[in-house]
Amino acid sequence: MSSSERPLPPRRNPPGVTVREARPEDNAALIALELASPLVLGAERVVYDRSPDFFSRHRLQPMRRVVVAELGGEIVGVAAAALHTPLVERRPHRLAYISHARVRADAQRRGVAGAFSAALLAWAKEHGAEGSYWFIAPSNEGSIAFGGRGGGRWPADATFRRIDVSRADAAPAPPLAPARIEEAVGLINATHAGQDLFEPPTAASMAARLRLDPAQYGIDHLRGAVAGGRLVAVAGLWDSGACMEEVRTDTRSGDVTRSRAASVLDWGWALGEEPAFRDLLTALAAEARSLGRAALTLSEPAPGALPGIALPSSVFALSLFTPTVPPPVSSPRGVFVDLVYL
Ligand SMILES: CC(C)(COP(=O)(O)OP(=O)(O)OC[C@H]1O[C@@H](n2cnc3c(N)ncnc32)[C@H](O)[C@@H]1OP(=O)(O)O)[C@@H](O)C(=O)NCCC(=O)NCCS
Repeated sequence: MSSSERPLPPRRNPPGVTVREARPEDNAALIALELASPLVLGAERVVYDRSPDFFSRHRLQPMRRVVVAELGGEIVGVAAAALHTPLVERRPHRLAYISHARVRADAQRRGVAGAFSAALLAWAKEHGAEGSYWFIAPSNEGSIAFGGRGGGRWPADATFRRIDVSRADAAPAPPLAPARIEEAVGLINATHAGQDLFEPPTAASMAARLRLDPAQYGIDHLRGAVAGGRLVAVAGLWDSGACMEEVRTDTRSGDVTRSRAASVLDWGWALGEEPAFRDLLTALAAEARSLGRAALTLSEPAPGALPGIALPSSVFALSLFTPTVPPPVSSPRGVFVDLVYL
């Protein structure tokens, strides 16, 4: 082995900091930690209240690990990784999606996040990952400074559409017949072909996804539109807001806004069938409203990639970092984000 091939020495944690896998009994401490570690977005502070179940979102990720950092025996940090194999420029990359990084304000700048990031990356590499990726709100300057150190920031941010469902009113969309899963997968793959970060499902991977936590997201949450005997549009409704309330504080006015959103997963339509998908989305918006949610969120890979619906909506953006995969100079079909990895 030449000296350049020698493995790096194991990274030492800062004094007093230990990192271990999170346990179910950490639930209350992790919910509290997140409430005590706001995202600083310009003049806004944002926390996510994940009560009653901090781990709910992770259960929809087939291969995941949540770690905590302890200082003096107390939990001061948390972060998560989820392994999957999205495409970048049509080539698969086994990557760990890193999320939920939080360090309690009084323990920041002591190397805690560095320690849990190294632990997650080591776990990911043991499981065949070539690297990792993450999203950061462009206005989160501290996190951009931390997460941007490895480079790999994409030239364009990933964008998302947030549909206001407060006035949504439509008849429920028909459930997707289980026998149509194969057709649904075909529509999803055709709709997102060429979009970066898309991980094409197969009938088997879709069936496995729907079995991970069916109460949260299973076959009963998929809706489909059929015309002329064939499936023309599909979309899944995930009530992500059941375990996640966004609490946004404007530090200038002191105004606090609380909101919960539902998410759209696994969507697509057949060529020329945008109107069928638009109707499906409108029906999902009404369903989200009946669940008590304020909004329905979905990835919008590029401007105009979604058919317009007659409800108010807004767009938000997140910067994407892939330090080990060179970001494409441009992403002509846009970036698709599976909201289970957000
Ligand atoms: C972002 C966050 C996880 C970083 O955790 P941390 O334990 O303080 O980070 P580390 O001590 O390991 O930082 C390592 C290096 O990253 C950079 N860095 C970290 N936080 C920074 C900040 N706020 N401003 C500028 N640089 C920063 C520095 O280079 C730092 O090294 P230094 O302290 O020797 O200068 C933490 O600030 C946090 O929890 N913020 C609130 C929640 C949040 O925004 N999470 C990220 C969501 S995308």
